[in-house]
Amino acid sequence: MSEPPIDPAVAAALRELGSPDGTGLCIDGVAASTLAATFGTPLYVFSAAVLRRRVAAVKAALGPRVELLWSVKANPSVPVTRCLREAGTGIEIASLGELQVALAAGHDAAAVRFAGPGKTDAELQVAIEQDLCLHVESADELAAIDRLATSAGRTARLALRVNFAAEVQGSRLRMGGRSSRFGIDQEQVPALLQQIAARPALRLVGAHVYGGTQCFDANACVRQAAALCAAVRGWEANGARLDELDLGGGFGVAAFHGDGSFDLAAAGRELSALMHEYDRPGRRWFVELGRFLAAPAGVYLTRVVRQKQSGGLTQVAVDGGLHQHAAAAGVGTIVRRPPLLVRAAAPWAAGTTAVTIGGPLCTPQDQFADRLPLGPLAAGELLAVLHAGAYGLTFSPHSFLSHATPVEVFVDDGEARLARHRGTPADALRGQVR
Ligand SMILES: Cc1ncc(COP(=O)(O)O)c(C=O)c1O
Repeated sequence: MSEPPIDPAVAAALRELGSPDGTGLCIDGVAASTLAATFGTPLYVFSAAVLRRRVAAVKAALGPRVELLWSVKANPSVPVTRCLREAGTGIEIASLGELQVALAAGHDAAAVRFAGPGKTDAELQVAIEQDLCLHVESADELAAIDRLATSAGRTARLALRVNFAAEVQGSRLRMGGRSSRFGIDQEQVPALLQQIAARPALRLVGAHVYGGTQCFDANACVRQAAALCAAVRGWEANGARLDELDLGGGFGVAAFHGDGSFDLAAAGRELSALMHEYDRPGRRWFVELGRFLAAPAGVYLTRVVRQKQSGGLTQVAVDGGLHQHAAAAGVGTIVRRPPLLVRAAAPWAAGTTAVTIGGPLCTPQDQFADRLPLGPLAAGELLAVLHAGAYGLTFSPHSFLSHATPVEVFVDDGEARLARHRGTPADALRGQVR
């Protein structure tokens, strides 16, 4: 039987990892089989070279005026975050845990930007003490910041996150354009600007828009940025000053078979034109990206544990699963499609035999592929999910069934080093009162 053609998104992912046709999967020159043998499976691998290339490509496309922020929620690995910082990214966070990662990776607290709709008073207090820039998501939050900053005798730096009436069409997961916990409805902003101007403990530095993630339409991402620029011009005409404009991001990366790609060059051209139009002295421009910087730099490796025939299908159980890479099992998607899954021994070969592949959890949802022509698979064969550098472990319910968490390995210049220890069964008891 002849092999079907390899999915274009898989081919692009392999090219980006520098994994040549005709050999086993390589990450930054290191064989996946060697990494699996050294560190065991399941295993996440992150490539420094790919991270650096992604940052360089985005910076080249967006131009020198843009300050690129790493959305650490996509992957709170310290080596990944440090590598991205050294490559020239700032950082935006959504929790005090992420603040810890940012500081451990060498960021200054005062350069950190903190967004998220449910920041507690305790979190705001720490942020104000450490002089983080707060992205304000509601009038209620603004009042809390004012109260906390006033009683601490400090001035809080603020950017208003704006929820515009138009949705970001084209985003797989939208966070604005309707009633939303994210951002302040556009028409409520003028009143808040007046309040801020009257409060000595509040210093307005800018505005922020973020309408959705996994957007494959560059034009849609630009439209939300354009809406922010136009609105800010209006507010500034009425006396406000908003120097720092965070234009959001949400640039998409193929995660499943059949996914397209994001036109970075087009986004760069259009955003550059927009920034040119709205530029002025004192203006700072930000774009914040998680997935687009990190997804292609990561690979999730898992091994075949058992195989059997059932109901006419080859059912394969692997040692990884939804608890470690929920996104690859389709959590958060409506129509399930296979992730960019390859055999590590022959990643460029599509295979001929349909196999259904899932993990060890007690739910049929724990399935990476249904009748994917990837087989036949050898006993113990190593499989790899590509584009696994974002929303992998961090997006997964890893305490479900109390399996140990996977190892993370950081590969830089042909050298692999441990980035996160493998968990142990005893972790299931951690924090519990017996
Ligand atoms: C406010 C904000 N910024 C940035 C991101 C990162 O998005 P992405 O990983 O799609 O770039 C998210 C993701 O949810 C977000 O909510």
